[in-house]
Amino acid sequence: MEIQLWREILDPYVLAVDEIMIKFEHMKTSYRNKGLYSPIEQVMGRVKTISSILEKAQKKQIPLERIEEEIDDIAGIRIICQFVDDIYRVVEMIKQRNDMKITSERDYVAERKESGYRSYHMNILYTVELSDGPKELTAEIQIRTLAMNFWATIEHSLQYKYKKNMPENLKKRLLNASEAIVVLDEEMSEVREEIMDAQNSFQAKASIVADILTNIQNLYKVANKREVLKIQDEFLKIYETEDIMQLTRFHKELDMISEGYRAQSLK
Ligand code: GTP
Ligand code: MG
Repeated sequence: MEIQLWREILDPYVLAVDEIMIKFEHMKTSYRNKGLYSPIEQVMGRVKTISSILEKAQKKQIPLERIEEEIDDIAGIRIICQFVDDIYRVVEMIKQRNDMKITSERDYVAERKESGYRSYHMNILYTVELSDGPKELTAEIQIRTLAMNFWATIEHSLQYKYKKNMPENLKKRLLNASEAIVVLDEEMSEVREEIMDAQNSFQAKASIVADILTNIQNLYKVANKREVLKIQDEFLKIYETEDIMQLTRFHKELDMISEGYRAQSLK
């Protein structure tokens, strides 16, 4: 097939991957902007390369004209979570959406594959709007923890290196490593509450500080410079105490002062 034809086939998948990634990225930032913990840690995506499409078609004896129907991971999205529980939260979030129709699911987290591989897989139908109208296509979403991703990445590169001939002892070691990953994920879930508390207060503090700084900056435009400098000094003093309650109170007071100026300027 000519490169130009490939481009025509693959272009809608590029759009789909871009769009889906933006949607998941947005979920992540909207949690964080609210100072909340995001079940999504990282979003990745890729369109399968022509050579790996050809390789898969050959292996599965798929004729070229049936590639789109038979290969369900031309568009691939990977969502990385911190904890195992987050995987199921993300799965629920996807199920609630009406722009992603789930056609199949496989829970290799609950039941890992023979290799030791763990991940939650979903195949979806997703519609992109093209210049000649809408096109519905399939995409594969893999949801896994950071630890599962670590294992899968290494195992994948070894698989690639050895093709079909991975030595038995290496397979065994990978299986052992996969068991260690299960334990690691469990351990991390145990300390999850603690980690989340620390992250939450860090995020909350960061967003309050950002707000305060914007407010002070805006005050420079409308208020007396000496007064703003006084406010700034006060902020620095409170900031140094690292007391989130005091910071929150200061934030509210500053909001009221700014509101006062805004009301005045509208008169
Ligand atoms: P495909 O022919 O690949 O579509 O198989 P399938 O439809 O039965 O899907 P499956 O869920 O088994 O795997 C799909 C994808 O998951 C693969 O393309 C890999 O990215 C990943 N995967 C599955 N098994 C393994 C594994 O043992 N190791 C690693 N590293 N990745 C795997
Ligand atoms: Mg598949």
